[in-house]
Amino acid sequence: MTAAVTERTPVVGTPIDRVDGRLKVTGQAQYTADTPVEHVAYAVMVTSTIARGKIVSIDTTAAGEVHGVLKIFTHENSPRFTQPESDFMKAIVPAQTLMPMQNPEIVHYGQQVAVVVAETYEAARAAAARVRIAYEPGHALLSIDDPKAQRTKPEQFFGSALQTERGDVDKHLAAAAVTLDERYTTPTQFHNPMEPHATLAQWNGDKLTIHEPSQWVKGLQNYVAAVFNLPLEDVHIISPFVGGGFGSKGFSFPHTILAAMAARDLKRPVKLVLTRTQLFEQTGNRPRTEQHLRIGAQKDGKLVAMDHASTIGTSVAGWFVEPSGRITPMLYSCPNVRISHEAAWLNTPAPGPMRAPGETPGTFALESAIDELAVKLDIDPIELRVRNDATQDEEEKLPFSSRHLVECLRLGAVRFGWKDRPRKPREYHEYREYVGYGVACATFPGLRSPASARVRRDKDRFLIEVATHDIGTGMYSIIAQVAADALGVGIEHIEVRIGDSALPPAPVAGGSMSTASVMPAVQAACLKLRENGANEAEASTAPGDEQGRYSFHSFGAQFVEVRVDETLGRVRVARALGVFDCGKIINPKTTRSQFLGGMVFGIGMALMEDGVFDPRSGRVMTDNLADYRIPVNADIGEIEAITVEHPDFLLNPLGARGVGEIGTTGVAAAIANAVYNATGKRIRELPITPDKLL
Ligand code: MOS
Repeated sequence: MTAAVTERTPVVGTPIDRVDGRLKVTGQAQYTADTPVEHVAYAVMVTSTIARGKIVSIDTTAAGEVHGVLKIFTHENSPRFTQPESDFMKAIVPAQTLMPMQNPEIVHYGQQVAVVVAETYEAARAAAARVRIAYEPGHALLSIDDPKAQRTKPEQFFGSALQTERGDVDKHLAAAAVTLDERYTTPTQFHNPMEPHATLAQWNGDKLTIHEPSQWVKGLQNYVAAVFNLPLEDVHIISPFVGGGFGSKGFSFPHTILAAMAARDLKRPVKLVLTRTQLFEQTGNRPRTEQHLRIGAQKDGKLVAMDHASTIGTSVAGWFVEPSGRITPMLYSCPNVRISHEAAWLNTPAPGPMRAPGETPGTFALESAIDELAVKLDIDPIELRVRNDATQDEEEKLPFSSRHLVECLRLGAVRFGWKDRPRKPREYHEYREYVGYGVACATFPGLRSPASARVRRDKDRFLIEVATHDIGTGMYSIIAQVAADALGVGIEHIEVRIGDSALPPAPVAGGSMSTASVMPAVQAACLKLRENGANEAEASTAPGDEQGRYSFHSFGAQFVEVRVDETLGRVRVARALGVFDCGKIINPKTTRSQFLGGMVFGIGMALMEDGVFDPRSGRVMTDNLADYRIPVNADIGEIEAITVEHPDFLLNPLGARGVGEIGTTGVAAAIANAVYNATGKRIRELPITPDKLL
C-alpha cells in the first residue's frame, strides 16, 4: 500500500528489546507521582491504630495550625459515596467494599480515618501526625482460628466453583493402598511493587481526570464513576507507566476516592502518594491459607482419591478468597476429587489477587503432597507425575486445547541434570551444606477476554491505541511486534499508546490474559487497515464457542537445587530452572523476564515472605521492606527459564497464552521438596526459615 510496506522477516517471536526501554532508563517515562501539575495540593492519610472499634473523637486543632494546611477531612465532614456493586462482567471490582470515612466504625488497623491536604507534602505530613483520635476498641478477629470469626463457604471465584466433588472421595480414600494426610500453611503475603500506589486527581467542572498506576484503567474508571455518580465519559484515567502491580493495582481501593474527593472540595489538583507502610495496610494482600490434603494412591502410584480442603483468612473490609484448591481437580488424572474452601472473616486489611491467586499457594500444598507420596511409594517424583498425567480436563470433561506438561518435566530433567540428584536425604554435601534437588509442576489457566484496538496512520507512521497496560510486562513491545507484522512494516514505524481509559477497551492486566486478549484485536485492526487502505481502523475481538469445547491452561515444571547449611539453618537456592508451556511466545526476551521475575517471587515466598499481624493491635508488624523480606540479587543463584513452544491456535489466531503468573507457581513446592531431599526435613509451613530447620 505504501513505500513503507515491504516483504520482511516477522518480528513476532523474536527477542526485541523493550520499545519503552529507552524512556525508562533515561527517566523520561512519566509515572503518576512524577506528573507535573500546576497548583497541586498534597494529601496525606491518617490511619487507624486499632483493628476494630469506633472513633470516639477527632481533634484536628493542632493539625490545623500547621502552616500551609488547607483542609482536614474526616468522616464528620466527608461527602457520602455510593458503594458500587462488584461485577466483573461490568468491569467493576472494588477489592475493598468498605467505603472510606463514612462513619466512625473501624474494621482494620491502617484504615483511612482522616486526610490532611496542604500546600506541601511536608506540611501535610507534619499536620497528619498532629491529628488526635480517641478510639473505643472492640475485640478484633485476627486469626482464622478465632472461634468468633464468622465463616462461610464461598461458592465461586470468578465463575470457577470452589466446592466440588466428583466420584466418591471418602470411600476411595478409605480403601486406598497408600494414603497421605497432611496440612500445609502459606502466610499472608504483600505485593510490594517498586512504585507505590498514587493518585493525582484533577477536576474540570464536573469532569474528573485521574493519573494513577493501574492494571485496569477501565475498571478504575467504572469504579470512580459509580462512587461519585458521574457519567462514565466524565471520568478519565491516565496510566501510561506502572512500576509493578502483581495484582495490587488491578482491583480498586479507596485511596483514589479520597484524592478525588479532596480535589473536588478544594477546587485544585490533589496528589496522594501512599507510604510503603500504607501499601501493606490498604492495597491488598494474599491471604493466609491452611490447606488440608488427603490423597489415596495405588502401589504403582496411580491416584485414586484426593481431598483438598482450604481455610483462608479474608477481611470484613473486602470479599476476596484465595482459591487455593482450584488446581487440584485439573492437574492430574484422578477419578475421585473433592475441593472445599472455607473463609474466615477477619479484622485485617482487605485482601486481593496477588500473582497467580490460588495457583501459588495451591501448588505449594499439592506439589509438596505429591512429592511426599513419591517418597512413600519410592517412585521418582517426575515418574509419579507422568503416570498421573491427565489427557483431558477431568473436572470440566473437556479436552485440553494444548497440554505439554510431560514434555516440560522430561526436558527439564535433562537440562537440569535430574539424574544426578541425591537419591535420599543427606546423601551428598559440600562443606557444611547438604545438597538437594526438587521438582514441582506449574500451572495457570489460559484466559482470554474481549478487547478492541485502533490503528491510525499518518504517512508511514502507525499509531496503535488500546486501553491495555504495561506493568513492566512488555505490552508496549509485543503490541508493536504484532502490529508491525500485521501491517507489513518495520517496527520503527509503529507507535503504541496504552494505559488510558479513553482508548478502545481492553481487560484487566490480570489473570495473565492481556496477551491472549489484546493481540488478536491489534492484529485484526491492522489487517483491516491494510485491507481497506484507509487511515484508521478499529477492531473488536472476543473468545468464541471454543471456550465451551476446550479447557485452556498453561503448564510448566520447576526444578531447583538447594544448599542447606544445617548448622545455621540457612537455605540457598543454588540453581533454578523453569520449563514452560504457554503457547506461542511473542517476545522471548520479555517473556523470559516475566518467568524469571515469577520464579524470584516464588523463592521469596518459599524462604522469606511472612506477613505478620500483631495479635494484640492487629497492626501489620512487617509493614516495611526491612521486616518483610523479599529476595535481592545476592539471594538468587543460577536461574533460567525456557519454553516448549506449541502455539495454541484454539485460543486465538496468534496461538499465544499469557506468561505473567505461571512463573511463580510451583516454585515454593520445588524448594520445599529440595529441602527435604537435602535434609530429610519436610517443611509444610512457609516460609522455610532457619528456625524450622535447626
Ligand atoms: Mo494478577 S494477581 O491476576 O494481576
